[in-house]
Amino acid sequence: MSRRILVTSALPYANGPIHIGHLVEYIQTDIWVRFQRLRGNRCIYVCADDAHGTPIMLRARDEGCEPQELIDRVLEEHRADFADFGVEFDSFHTTHSDENRELSVGIYERLREGGHIARREITQMYDAQAGMFLPDRFVRGGCPRCGAEDQYGDSCESCGATYTPAELSDPVSVVSETRPVERESEHLFFRLENFAGMLRDWTAGDRVQPEVRNKLREWFETGLRDWDISRDAPYWGFEIPDAPGKYFYVWLDAPIGYMASFLHYCGSTGESFDAFWAPDSDAEVVHFIGKDIAYFHTLFWPAMLAGAGYRTPSAVWAHGFLTVDGEKMSKSRGTFVSARTYLEHLPPEYLRYYYAAKLGSGLDDIDLNLDDFVLRVNSDLVGKLVNIASRCAGFVVKGFDARLSGELPEPELYAEFAAAGEEIAADYESREYARVVRSVAALADRANQYIDARQPWALAKDEATRDQVQGICTQGLNLFRVLIAYLKPILPETAARSEAFLDCDPLDWDSPREPLLDHRIRKFKPLLKRIERGQVDAMIEASRG
Ligand code: MSP
Ligand code: ZN
Repeated sequence: MSRRILVTSALPYANGPIHIGHLVEYIQTDIWVRFQRLRGNRCIYVCADDAHGTPIMLRARDEGCEPQELIDRVLEEHRADFADFGVEFDSFHTTHSDENRELSVGIYERLREGGHIARREITQMYDAQAGMFLPDRFVRGGCPRCGAEDQYGDSCESCGATYTPAELSDPVSVVSETRPVERESEHLFFRLENFAGMLRDWTAGDRVQPEVRNKLREWFETGLRDWDISRDAPYWGFEIPDAPGKYFYVWLDAPIGYMASFLHYCGSTGESFDAFWAPDSDAEVVHFIGKDIAYFHTLFWPAMLAGAGYRTPSAVWAHGFLTVDGEKMSKSRGTFVSARTYLEHLPPEYLRYYYAAKLGSGLDDIDLNLDDFVLRVNSDLVGKLVNIASRCAGFVVKGFDARLSGELPEPELYAEFAAAGEEIAADYESREYARVVRSVAALADRANQYIDARQPWALAKDEATRDQVQGICTQGLNLFRVLIAYLKPILPETAARSEAFLDCDPLDWDSPREPLLDHRIRKFKPLLKRIERGQVDAMIEASRG
């Protein structure tokens, strides 16, 4: 029975471009989705821009435009960036949508009716000049513990202390550069503690990774505190129906954006929303996220869903952060590379391949080592993989009218390649992409050794042995075809070009079962190009500043 799976990636903020750090996540997810589809499962991949919150409101103000204009423009940019990296969403929507407003209000009302919303006065920093309450990160000042100057209002980068902005010495509003004052206001809270039992059950299974489960245990021990879900005007978001002048905090409606994007998809395709979100749904809902937002996805989100009478996620899978040459991405070092800048210098599939080669199922950070990147692309992809095809194609086209032979000279070797598919599938399923890449590279070595040993170029010169060449090259091209099928989730475009060259049906996970025999191929065109370190340097140079 084929599975039905709804897959999401975290919603990127609509106040800036997609960068190579984000792409770790979207590429990781897209590979998984493509793999599921090749296996014959029904897999729907949705995402959206996270279009609300103070940073977006202020960014628009800085640019002298309305928030709506800003998020419309960024939405188009994000869509183009993802499309050009082969990240193929079924729906890429926005949280500032009718679907999301309806769902957010609906969930809030159900939570309120269930007794899960509390109201109380809190004291917050207020910028009298700008006329707005300030998020903690918009207040800076001296650390109350170590005295370091110019620290954020919630934590100190120097000593790691956490505190409230009121505790800072000489606090300053980032918005107006004036000193903020304390002011009271009524806020709405989600009573997370009501879900303690439900959350303990939900996190006990394998819905989260072991590292996250440990973290959750700590969070349970320190206690599940009420979560502030409202913000005062001026705020860019959805107004709360029974609290005029108050808005849902961006993190309330952001995860609901997953459902809203799916609802949008349902509207245009006729897919059933309830089939995926009703409490008794037997479909899967899988969220891919970065490790920095695990708290929201493994506590608030499942609790909100349960409280509002929806099903809870089947899995939340977190990945680590990207470093470049071992360090955090940085504008001054030129390693804060936007998706667009990358594309201006290098082919997208090379990054997909490199990330896959580095990704496992855990939360470890992954490093983009620029020398290693050039090396691996050139040696693995061009040197090993494409080389198999380029060494065999010419002989078949020129000597045998582009026709593959009617049988394989070494069917056992082919059978071994085909049999590797199950283990590779298990590695995709468990997000162990680095192992997939290693297995395929090892098989590519064997295919090249096979060709090296048979030396079709020598046999072709001698009339007596010429006939063997067709079989050897048919063997080589069939081994190549199997490897391309295995890499298709990672390299969809290269796979499409290979299918065109082999003139075969689109490859799926079962294609390796039958070799391509007595079949005409087309003329070989180079499938991938080598890259030079200079292209990478130019990309880094263009990103500096
Ligand atoms: N808007 C929130 C997510 C809301 S989901 C309901 C957000 N946006 S983000 O733009 O900051 O990040 C989007 C995703 O990209 C997150 O999962 C985040 O962890 C991931 N990454 C952002 N920078 C990253 C790296 N440098 N490396 C790896 N992943 C990174 O968080
Ligand atoms: Zn400090």
